Amino acid sequence: MAKAEPTFAHPVGLDIGTSRIVSAMPAESGYEYRSQLNSFVTLPNSKMREAVLRRENIPHTIVGSDILVHGNESERFADLLQMETRRPMSRGFINPSEPESLSVMKQIILSLIGPAKQPGQKACFSVPAAPIGASENLTYHEATLNQIFGELGYAPKSINEGLAVVFGELESSNYTGIGISIGGGLCNVCLSYLAVPVTSYSITKAGDFVDSSTASVTGELANRIRLAKEESFVLTGGSTDKVHQVLGVYYDDLIKSLVASLKQHFGDTRSLPKLGRAVPLVLSGGSVMPRGFREKFETELKAADLPLPISEIRLADNPLLTTAKGALIAALSEM
Ligand SMILES: Nc1ncnc2c1ncn2[C@@H]1O[C@H](COP(=O)(O)OP(=O)(O)OP(=O)(O)O)[C@@H](O)[C@H]1O
Ligand SMILES: [Mg+2]
Repeated sequence: MAKAEPTFAHPVGLDIGTSRIVSAMPAESGYEYRSQLNSFVTLPNSKMREAVLRRENIPHTIVGSDILVHGNESERFADLLQMETRRPMSRGFINPSEPESLSVMKQIILSLIGPAKQPGQKACFSVPAAPIGASENLTYHEATLNQIFGELGYAPKSINEGLAVVFGELESSNYTGIGISIGGGLCNVCLSYLAVPVTSYSITKAGDFVDSSTASVTGELANRIRLAKEESFVLTGGSTDKVHQVLGVYYDDLIKSLVASLKQHFGDTRSLPKLGRAVPLVLSGGSVMPRGFREKFETELKAADLPLPISEIRLADNPLLTTAKGALIAALSEM
């Protein structure tokens, strides 16, 4: 007898990042991930150009007299054409001054997870913690994403990014500890106690800050700097390359700012619950990838002498996928 098609559509988890959108869904063994850059370039439309893009299977949309190439291919096009990519999000949130942000993000989400397999399929997506004094950004951002997922037929729900890191990495400590995601637009931090977020916040310094600051010193395009950084930059020092040397300066600044923010938030234990044990700290997000990051962060954190006892500082298993995994675990835990 033919096997019946499953009538149940599994939940999906999404990391909606400034730099990349990542999806996670349950697979035969473990989880399946997909990812696309959250960026695009516009090219003047022509019949021939469109036909070429279609034949090469390069994701694009036609908007008036322009072709928008979005997702992973946008970076290569931008580099070839010596231009910056355009970005639907900036510093963790939907960029209100980018007119194409909603339609591009919808297309990218659609290319990753398709429309809902059945009405009301669960989609749990990450949202950043509001940077201090900017909560209205979060309200607009979250409401707009709810709308996009709703239009695709999903029943959406959001999860704080730092908490998603805890869900993705700290099952062994019963979801108690500090989850940190150091991404493109933001560093997100969450202290969780038994899966309950105790405190969370974000700072607006991450990979994009490193790229644009380095670009302004060296006079190159930020997109070019980013490619060089991802390809070969390490934090163990010793490089005589000018770009690497400047990247090192701004990475140092990023790590110091993050540690200063931890000190500010967790420096006064009177305002924290008595956890009664040392807690693990997990580092995730694309910006932790350069070799030597964990060690440098640990040295700075030790020097800051945080009164909150930390049992271990470790990198996430796969820093680029942690948030999506945690969002999926959150969606599955509600079934
Ligand atoms: N191998 C690598 N080496 C150095 N940096 C990297 C590497 N891979 C990715 N990155 C950087 O990581 C950042 C993107 O990380 P991530 O995908 O976690 O961000 P995001 O979730 O999209 O952004 P955010 O959470 O801030 O909104 C970018 O700045 C990117 O350049
Ligand atoms: Mg992120």
